[in-house]
Amino acid sequence: MKFFIDTANLDQIREANELGVLDGVTTNPSLMAKENIRGEENCRRHYAAICAIVDGDVSAEVIATDYEGMIREGEELAAIHPNIVVKLPCTAEGIRAVRYFAGKGIRTNCTLVFSPGQALLAAKAGATYVSPFVGRLDDICSDGVELVGKIVEMYRYYGYPTQVLAASIRHTQHIMQCVEAGADVATCPLAAIKGLLRHPLTDSGLAAFLADHKRVNG
Ligand code: G3P
Repeated sequence: MKFFIDTANLDQIREANELGVLDGVTTNPSLMAKENIRGEENCRRHYAAICAIVDGDVSAEVIATDYEGMIREGEELAAIHPNIVVKLPCTAEGIRAVRYFAGKGIRTNCTLVFSPGQALLAAKAGATYVSPFVGRLDDICSDGVELVGKIVEMYRYYGYPTQVLAASIRHTQHIMQCVEAGADVATCPLAAIKGLLRHPLTDSGLAAFLADHKRVNG
């Protein structure tokens, strides 16, 4: 199970990386906007800064929605650093672009996936990663984790090498549910990753160890 952090915030990326368990980063245009990163040149610089922090895959999303624009942007993004994965929406144009990049040996993340059928097309086109959005399905009273499980099962049955990257993870329990569903990767907010550490018995156990040590050692 790989852990990616789902943010464009450099401080959070550094903090997660310092834990020593981070395998990569995912961003999207909303997350870049949240950090107030404007313009193509600044975006490129920001992706390079992320790649300098984390030794792992960094998803950078195209803005174009037409095939030619996706190819142009994707090639520019891929040229920033060998760890860049070109992120493309699961549309007809996006699937065509996934196929193009697969032929060029450029890795892709097919995003905004909400159904097994979309995931099937992404795998057939040769996507490196497919990103089902767990939280956004839960938001509309659908079952995001169930979708992750269905995609995992389908890929295993047919032997597709595309990795299932559970996205739109909102909390720690989502992470564990995606582990149980067999996701290859979960991309998570920092708070959800840190939530995995929290247990009252760890806190009380540590307090007791330190109190006993102090009692004897002063
Ligand atoms: O990984 C996709 C993610 O950034 C979307 O998350 O919380 O906006 O649905 P959210």
